[in-house]
Amino acid sequence: ENSKITVIGSINMDLVASTNRVPILGETVMGESFHTIPGGKGANQAVAAARLGAETTMIGCVGNDLFGQDLLKHLISQGVNVDNVKPVTHSSTGIASITLSNGDNQIIVIPGANYQVTPAVVESFEDVIATSDILLLQLEIPLESVEKAVELAVKHQVKVILNPAPIQPLPKGLLEKVDYLTPNEYEQQLLFDSIEWTVEERQEMLKKCIITRGSKGITFFQDEKVEIPSFKVDVVDTTGAGDSFNGGFAYSISQGASLEDACRFASAVAALSVTKLGAQGGMPTLEEVRAFLQTQGEE
Ligand code: RIB
Ligand code: NA
Repeated sequence: ENSKITVIGSINMDLVASTNRVPILGETVMGESFHTIPGGKGANQAVAAARLGAETTMIGCVGNDLFGQDLLKHLISQGVNVDNVKPVTHSSTGIASITLSNGDNQIIVIPGANYQVTPAVVESFEDVIATSDILLLQLEIPLESVEKAVELAVKHQVKVILNPAPIQPLPKGLLEKVDYLTPNEYEQQLLFDSIEWTVEERQEMLKKCIITRGSKGITFFQDEKVEIPSFKVDVVDTTGAGDSFNGGFAYSISQGASLEDACRFASAVAALSVTKLGAQGGMPTLEEVRAFLQTQGEE
């Protein structure tokens, strides 16, 4: 059965410079290659879900410029519904300046049009949210818009997955309303340290957390701590690994999978994605995930 996943979030063009050595402040180094590749945490997660076969709708903003046009065309080619993406005139399309070195990265995001995704824009798509199975959110649009989206999802009993990246201090009320939180280790630490919790609240929060730990696997807490090991692959580019995980997790949860199965599935999606250049490069279809899991002696 086809599940409806709605992503409200960022759409960026990634400007990726590959270099063997990362310059220190004030230094110039000669790099290896340059690529202009579709990215943005929102768009990446939407593409991950769409490639797996979910009916995926993106809500966001791009600028009225070449990057914006390219990104919309690209999303359409990936099967993402962009009827609700607004081209805005007063900001340029979001970009990410990415330095890629030995599979690892440093990223500077200039949000541009992504910050035009205001609470009012979110509110205008209440019907889209209401008819979704899952709402998938990140933090590359204004926080008030994320809060508005969560409020509408709760109103219509739509499950919410919040990927708290890039991390910033978040209101307790927001965290309490979401169904799943998918921080990495660092983000989880910051979330828990930046807020005062009672012991009970802390435990409730932990139960919502799916903590992604890169090559060290996934950790979540039900009655007890569950650790899912990661798959070993040849890493080319870890950019967007978290986004692949989130898209895969949303898809799997929407299909009714258990938390453990959803994590293993999403982990496979992320593993396949890091074997290719670019955030969205390497994001697998459902068949590819199944074939991969079979080689790993599962399913
Ligand atoms: O998560 C990876 C993404 O973060 C990149 O595609 C870049 O656009 C930044 O938003
Ligand atoms: Na990739």
